Amino acid sequence: MQTNKESGTRIDQIANGIYRISTPVPPPAIPGGFTFNQYLTVDDAPLLYHTGPRKMFPLICEAISSVIPMNSLRYIGFSHYEADECGSLNDFLEAAPEAEPLCSSIAKMVSVDDIALRPAHALADGEELSLGTHVVRWTDTPHLPHAWECGHLFETTTRTLFCGDLFTQGGHEHEPLTTEDILDASEEMRSALDYFSQTRRVHELMEKLASNSPRILACMHGAAWEGDGAALLRQLAGRLAG
Ligand SMILES: [Fe+2]
Ligand SMILES: [Fe+2]
Repeated sequence: MQTNKESGTRIDQIANGIYRISTPVPPPAIPGGFTFNQYLTVDDAPLLYHTGPRKMFPLICEAISSVIPMNSLRYIGFSHYEADECGSLNDFLEAAPEAEPLCSSIAKMVSVDDIALRPAHALADGEELSLGTHVVRWTDTPHLPHAWECGHLFETTTRTLFCGDLFTQGGHEHEPLTTEDILDASEEMRSALDYFSQTRRVHELMEKLASNSPRILACMHGAAWEGDGAALLRQLAGRLAG
């Protein structure tokens, strides 16, 4: 469903209670075009994963408000500390007075408790949090793809992995959810912009993510993907190591 004709921002349900919000940025603003996605899990304790950049805050609010009241948000989660991950964290904390930042222990210690209006709710590696019907589990993945504090969140009932910048696809026109290959498109982006760290723990960290057997990979940039997520994560690990 499109919520803003001018910006092209849309919100689509991609799994039970999980919505993808996506705003396209066509060229020339970003060469080749790009998208910024956020994921909203609707439950007793609604979770927004990624805030999007600050300039997109009104668009993302509009999309959320088409599904639930903004002030009902309870958690504002993100993979690592970067503008598209948490640039408007404080705007969301103001709009939703009961919301807490949700992030890794390292992110809380190093950045979030210093810059956020309220203390973060940190999740340890493997720790779970119930949102009501949905249950999310955190996995620490330092430097995969980048940032010491990096990790990824997995929703256990729909087997959705919020995989952040993994499988970043260029272009500004994408289906909300695809079963087509996204690995080659994301490898094209990686060869043009080397946004992955050189961590030596690629296989170990990717296995941690694959062990959840995700069915949906909820990418931050490009289409979300449905299929054998563990197999695709292992293929990516092979490309990174090769
Ligand atoms: Fe990032
Ligand atoms: Fe990103």
